[in-house]
Amino acid sequence: MNKIIERIKKLKAEKNAIILAHSYQNIEIDQVADFVGDSLYLSQMAKQTKADIIVFAGVYFMAQTAKVISPEKKVLLPNLNAGCLMADMINLHQMIDFKKSHPGLPVVCYINSTAEVKAECDICCTSSNALEIVKSLNSPKVLFVPDANLGKWVESKLNNVNVITYDGNCPVHNNITTDDIENARKKYPDAKILIHPECKPEVSILGDYIGSTSGIIDYVKRSNDKKFVIVTEKGVYDRLRRDYPDKEFILIRDNMLCESMKLTTLDEILYSLENEVNEITLDDDVRKRSAGCIERMLKVSK
Ligand code: 13P
Ligand code: SF4
Repeated sequence: MNKIIERIKKLKAEKNAIILAHSYQNIEIDQVADFVGDSLYLSQMAKQTKADIIVFAGVYFMAQTAKVISPEKKVLLPNLNAGCLMADMINLHQMIDFKKSHPGLPVVCYINSTAEVKAECDICCTSSNALEIVKSLNSPKVLFVPDANLGKWVESKLNNVNVITYDGNCPVHNNITTDDIENARKKYPDAKILIHPECKPEVSILGDYIGSTSGIIDYVKRSNDKKFVIVTEKGVYDRLRRDYPDKEFILIRDNMLCESMKLTTLDEILYSLENEVNEITLDDDVRKRSAGCIERMLKVSK
């Protein structure tokens, strides 16, 4: 293992490459990553970097977003099968039909979507800035794709904004029930419950804190509490246990695993960087139109 890590580090230096890793990745990937974080942070890093190559340890839409905003860089996704179940729930035709059924409304697109879908939308958002982005539109009605849970959570937080949602979700988070949270509350009365807003809104509302993966990690960092129930993918729980050994963490369910996020291995990172394979490419028109959608978000969320 150490040899692989050393080889990756050497190649990064030789090729002026960086590795961006999402907080749901297998934890050993942090040993070679330059930046680890949530979707917003990683897209900001993809935009800012002076590297020639970005290796994205994440899922397809994340690497594609990096390519959209940094087209001059080579973006590699070590395992091309790493997709996102939610992003797969809406394709270009479904997107166009959804817009046609609600003409004239601004369209907000969760970053968990393809570049083709983003190209049809006005502005992108992530779980950490969805509220800020919807507010920035100053519109009494907006369309929101593809995550119905995040869209409805945003609506519940804003007065007088009707958020019309597409019927998509993340099965990893959507499976969590209000019973799960209420049982955890009874079993761990002294714990803070931290929830990702991809859960159903009636679940999210029961949490002490609702936020993105980085938001949850920051909450623990700032908190004097000692016990936390983590209601998101296991990667966040693994990193919290590593970084805060004096605190106690409970994962809401054992099966909080995003299989796609776990596909990427150190071996694959080494292979893709060494051979510069599994490169993300995009149609130029789609790239330009989806870049507008993402750049508008990055302007609002600095
Ligand atoms: P974050 O933006 O919180 O990292 O979420 C990404 C994701 O895919 C959650 O399922
Ligand atoms: Fe997609 Fe859900 Fe996996 Fe996030 S956890 S990448 S939304 S399938």
